[in-house]
Amino acid sequence: MSSQSMPSSISAQDLDSILREDRIFPPPPEFSSTAHIKSLAEYESLYNRSIADPESFWAEAARNLHWFQPWTKTLDWNLPWAKWFVNGKLNLCSNCVDRHALGDNAEKTAIIWEAEPIGEDGQPEIRTLTYAQLHREVQRFANALKSLGIQKGDRVAIYMGMTPELAIALLACARIGAVHNVIFGGFAAHAIADRVNDSQCVAILTQDSSYRRGSEVPLKRTVDEALANTPSVKHVVVLKRSGTPVNMQPGRDWWWHDLVASSRPICPAEPMDSEDPLYILYTSGTTGKPKGLVHTTGGYSVGTYLTTRYCFDLDNPNHPNDVFWCTADIGWVTGHSYVVYGPLQNGATVLMYEGAPNYPGCDRFWDIIDRHKVTIFYTAPTAIRAFIKWGNEHVEKHSLASLRLLGTVGEPINPEAWMWYREKIGHNRCPIVDTWWQTETGGIMIAPIPGAVPTKPGSATRPFFGIQPEVVTPEGKPVPKGSGGLLVIRKPWPSMARTVWGDPERYQKTYWSDVPGSYFTGDGARQDADGYYWLMGRVDDVLNVSGHRLGTMEVESALVAHPKVAEAAVVGRPDDLKGQAVVAFVTLEGHVAASYAKAESSSAADHGSATPASSADSAAPANSLESLKDELKKWVAKEIGPIARPDDIRFTDALPKTRSGKIMRRLLRELATHGEIKGDTTTLEDFQVIAKLRESDEG
Ligand code: WTA
Repeated sequence: MSSQSMPSSISAQDLDSILREDRIFPPPPEFSSTAHIKSLAEYESLYNRSIADPESFWAEAARNLHWFQPWTKTLDWNLPWAKWFVNGKLNLCSNCVDRHALGDNAEKTAIIWEAEPIGEDGQPEIRTLTYAQLHREVQRFANALKSLGIQKGDRVAIYMGMTPELAIALLACARIGAVHNVIFGGFAAHAIADRVNDSQCVAILTQDSSYRRGSEVPLKRTVDEALANTPSVKHVVVLKRSGTPVNMQPGRDWWWHDLVASSRPICPAEPMDSEDPLYILYTSGTTGKPKGLVHTTGGYSVGTYLTTRYCFDLDNPNHPNDVFWCTADIGWVTGHSYVVYGPLQNGATVLMYEGAPNYPGCDRFWDIIDRHKVTIFYTAPTAIRAFIKWGNEHVEKHSLASLRLLGTVGEPINPEAWMWYREKIGHNRCPIVDTWWQTETGGIMIAPIPGAVPTKPGSATRPFFGIQPEVVTPEGKPVPKGSGGLLVIRKPWPSMARTVWGDPERYQKTYWSDVPGSYFTGDGARQDADGYYWLMGRVDDVLNVSGHRLGTMEVESALVAHPKVAEAAVVGRPDDLKGQAVVAFVTLEGHVAASYAKAESSSAADHGSATPASSADSAAPANSLESLKDELKKWVAKEIGPIARPDDIRFTDALPKTRSGKIMRRLLRELATHGEIKGDTTTLEDFQVIAKLRESDEG
């Protein structure tokens, strides 16, 4: 989730770091030899150059794109207001599509799309679009939008499933200069209405329904509900995906296919000013209403172009058959930057999959990788932890031989999950790029350049070119290497969000006020002796145990390293003695959970029978959950020290997560403290999870 202003609990104290992780993996020589950047020396020399003179560095990168008019000044910086490529004119859609469709790549596949449902022939529907076809479709839909009177600067909400038309919708808006506001297809009507009203959208693009885990998600019906409270919306465009009948209001609601049928396939791209808004994307913090972060055209284009090229080694002539699959939904920033804009600017072949990773079976992703020969796979730690929980048998059925590079984003990845990813998915052959960034940063900020930078499990490693992160105290003083602190970015970078829609003060206050002169990320981090960054979690989640301030990531990683644990979330509960007691919510690996459930029910059946105690200080039977709690507490104490020993362990089937898959520790903290949940839960994925946790709390 997005940054919050710093909570008052932040003291001048450093964050204590307790995680010890010494493994290091140099880039595989086979990878490096054909990569854009082939060695650490090459990375370091380019990085140093980019920091010595960021403006020249970024200007050089920008020259790879098509500009209608060159910029007159690379950066205009008036803290916190940055303008990049001042007076330049370009169009991101034309850089994504026209440049390839009108060049050598017209017949190259731009998008491979796979539907979720499996047809009667046992196969899912698959569609592909070449760059030439994408060019035509985007222009026709751009003309369709124009035919509704939508103009440059108008805001257009997009509430769709993962279909090729969703990508086309973004590109068409960018083409005519309409500002898109994508709302994740899992949000409810009131969340749509809030976002549409905040940015006064004139239209909503949606579909009849989408598919998710074998069910239909009635998108248009939810939009209809939202429309009762969205007076700014004049038009609704509906893509027919499932064919399930929907309500269409004449004069307001239009079928996508009707509009494009009467649209010409030629629509010149609008020359946009570098600083014209490209899109608004809402992120919800822990408090207050969601923030509409505004990204502008020039800087965002350059940032996503270059980070995609180097972090994912795309547009590499040695790998003309790359198929790039970022599993994020386009409703999140990861989908904006690394499903659509970054890869298409690089002329890549992008795979889009409509549905869930466990439909119809837990091996759907691996099946997709083998069938489409995916070479680069980018997913989230929450997904990786789910794969681990589901069991290796689903992975081992598939060859995964096409893969050459893996990535993760969204949360800190626990070292053991990283190792599993490397071994089971990457077969120890693929580098892993753990990419740290935020909705606000627009693009990747800290990540290993895969052919160049050796990786360490759990570390996002080193900064991207032109990016200067620093770990500091709340007063902005650098902390020594090895100590934890607040992660800030010292200088502006092209793809940074420019403001919060309609609330510039909030932008300034949230990101540029806490640590003087720097962009405050809201995350804790430490830098090790090699200059590697280790993200420690959100600072609003920090634990304070007996005066030691601990990031959640390190304690959770110790738990996840236990062979029986799948996922863990750690929070503090007020404690008279220690300040905070450590409460860990833990989910067990699939087969382990099942065997404990069996053991518990049989011991309940023959209660009274003598079972040997698991250890001297525990009277619990060896195979009971009580004894596992003891085992885990001791494990953590041994792995990272007694200070982090959980006082309380609670087992649960699932952890509460945001819809983008991040653990919501705030809710767990409330539950651990008060036994109830108060705050805003609109981004929560599964309300059932909270209900279950609460029951077990009471029980
Ligand atoms: C967290 C997603 C550690 C972090 C692109 C950040 C990470 C927030 C990583 C932004 C990573 C994302 N390692 N933490 N590789 N990637 N985060 O806005 O707390 O959805 O501030 O952007 O996710 O989340 P957002």
